[in-house]
Amino acid sequence: MRPRLGILASGRGSNAEALMDAFTRGDLPAELAVVVSNRAGAPVLDKAAARGFPTACVPSAGKDRARHERELLGVLEGHGVQHLLLAGYMRVLSPQFLATFPGKVLNIHPALLPDFPGLRAAERQWEAGVKVAGATVHLVDEGVDTGPPLLMGSLEVRGDEGPEGLAMRILHEVEHVIYPRAVRLFLDRLARAAQHPSPATPTTPLAPTAPAAGGER
Ligand code: GRF
Repeated sequence: MRPRLGILASGRGSNAEALMDAFTRGDLPAELAVVVSNRAGAPVLDKAAARGFPTACVPSAGKDRARHERELLGVLEGHGVQHLLLAGYMRVLSPQFLATFPGKVLNIHPALLPDFPGLRAAERQWEAGVKVAGATVHLVDEGVDTGPPLLMGSLEVRGDEGPEGLAMRILHEVEHVIYPRAVRLFLDRLARAAQHPSPATPTTPLAPTAPAAGGER
């Protein structure tokens, strides 16, 4: 059975669009089970619905993290989601939530991590005067933008873009290109792991090794 993926996004959803278009083209050997937003009226929900993908809204406003994540988990389980793609999802997921999807949550960040983690990363690259900027798709761990990278893409800063212009260039020239590719890499890796599972961990303790010739030292 093909893996079932879910997208979590909070707003504009341009990365979600790039991913959805890759699903529609058949570039990703998986099912897009649902697109979920934590904000009612988020444009990403309309974009997903227009493409015929299932959508759900699990509002986070006014709820504590535990309650919101319980509701979110219920929706994801209801759609049989096995792996998550964060695409501009503006909430930090708790360690408890992540433990439900171990090594199965991807995120995209508009900088060459580990440099410029956190908010306004594209603009801060401009302000720092970097000559090369970019974006990273990484696995999500318990930190903010700290998980192991899967794929990075870079561009040369022209110098006349300004902070917003650089953010747009990174978005269009790098993020929308590398996110679908990273998901493909991730899925290919999953498929290989399923074909060649690593040897099972021995369930009985190993017999003690014979003492070296010459007896105990
Ligand atoms: C992107 O820059 C992404 O890297 C970051 O949030 C932004 C979301 O933009 N995590 P969009 O909603 O995908 O257009």
